[in-house]
Amino acid sequence: MAIDLELVRDIPADVSAVLIPACSDHLGAAGPQDPGNPSAGIDAEDDLPPEADWRYLRARGFEGKVDQVAVMPGRHGTVLFLIGLGPSSSVDANVMRRAAAVAARAAFRHQGVACCLLDAAVDTTARPAMAQALAEGLQLGTYQYDLYKSNPEPSRIARVCVVSLGGKRVQGTLDVGSRIAEGVALARDLVNEPGSDLTPAVAAERIEALAAQAGLECTIWHRDQIEAERLGGLIGVNRGSTQPPVFVQLRYAPAGPARGRLGLVGKGVTFDSGGLSVKSSNQMMAMKGDMAGAAAVVGAMSVLGSVRPRCEVRAFLPFTDNMIGGGATRPGDVLRMRNDKTVEVLNTDAEGRLLLADALALATEALPDAIIDLATLTGAVETALGSKIAGLFSNNSSWAEMVSAAASRAGERLWGLPLPGDYRKNLDSDVADLRNVGKSASGGAITAALFLGEFVGPGIPWAHLDIAGTSWSTDIDGEVVKGGTGYGVRLLVELMRTFKKPAR
Ligand code: BES
Ligand code: ZN
Ligand code: ZN
Repeated sequence: MAIDLELVRDIPADVSAVLIPACSDHLGAAGPQDPGNPSAGIDAEDDLPPEADWRYLRARGFEGKVDQVAVMPGRHGTVLFLIGLGPSSSVDANVMRRAAAVAARAAFRHQGVACCLLDAAVDTTARPAMAQALAEGLQLGTYQYDLYKSNPEPSRIARVCVVSLGGKRVQGTLDVGSRIAEGVALARDLVNEPGSDLTPAVAAERIEALAAQAGLECTIWHRDQIEAERLGGLIGVNRGSTQPPVFVQLRYAPAGPARGRLGLVGKGVTFDSGGLSVKSSNQMMAMKGDMAGAAAVVGAMSVLGSVRPRCEVRAFLPFTDNMIGGGATRPGDVLRMRNDKTVEVLNTDAEGRLLLADALALATEALPDAIIDLATLTGAVETALGSKIAGLFSNNSSWAEMVSAAASRAGERLWGLPLPGDYRKNLDSDVADLRNVGKSASGGAITAALFLGEFVGPGIPWAHLDIAGTSWSTDIDGEVVKGGTGYGVRLLVELMRTFKKPAR
């Protein structure tokens, strides 16, 4: 359920919980520097614990460190949640998002909550960005996928009064943060939905309904049209399935003249068994999430109706599952892709690149100023960067820099990896233009990215984000909870809001 966020000057009388920041430099072992008010900058002294209580909290091990929470009774029948922010000098939007998530999880049984965290950001120019992060953290931290739970215990938080001296822009950015959090939650829902329920056809229906709500154009190609349009990669991956493929296109057009045109591509494999090159049981467990790239694109585009960037955006989303029926593509089969290149499929588990090849070729035909694709493409990227950092590949340094800067402002982590031209021969096939897996198994994330690059038009700035590690989480960590993370939504929205044509 969406949380209603309201900017207020003082703590309202009807809230039952108050979230209070506590910075570690005010609560260190040496004792408070500012005994009356370790929550620097907040104007709610009535509700703050008196000095004796701060000492008690310290004695119990509460030091105001990041992720620490202490609970105590407040003065007016409220419950106080003291939220560690770490050193006051390092409080930024990421710290704020994380603290808000931790705070909301701690206070999830309360309906009406006052939140005094924002003014811990002493630098008032940073406050709008902090407010956005706060709104994101409160909602993302309490996200739950409970569709199939008989006794769900969802967060009861319905209203959060953000106590701040504010500034005009703060309510606006709180709202932006809320919308973005809804986009992330949508992406998480899609990732968490079982493969038997979120079939390609169901995904298309969902997206069509969302597009209508968000004011986006939506075009859906079903199997016949996909064949007529010669999407050989998508058809080839779909051959082992009983569920027909779909290809979804979305378009957002700004009100005035467009400041550039952006193409988005997302991998939409609703379940990846590996095909005939079948995965092991363990590898298959989280493969309902193999459409996280498409989900991130859909989540980000669902926000555009309210965020209204000035660029035109087109999304290209191929959906299929990768199954093992009698008609399945065999290792050794050759596919002809949308751009007429032929591909020898030697491993049917390297399927994402096959449908992305068609989608990138179509994106190219729309002549965009830049393209970005998101895909749960390789286990190798998780081996290289772990589960908190996505791999970024690009053919254009100015575009890579823009993507990287947007991700950093949005608080989503990525790291650049190379596209070395001399590694391309690893993909040379004896019978076709390319093989779909490298002759050498090492450098798998790079090989996959090089493969995709073959389907992007020459000279078009293109970035590829391999989100196989970051799209799924096995633990709770700040604003990230177990299951689908919605990785990519925030960076995409930020990228669209600030889009400029990259230099070629
Ligand atoms: N969907 C997988 C990649 C993946 C792995 C996503 C782990 C999320 C978590 C992809 O289709 C795949 O199977 N890739 C193969 C490529 C290999 C056959 C070259 C892989 O990574 O093993
Ligand atoms: Zn696969
Ligand atoms: Zn896959």
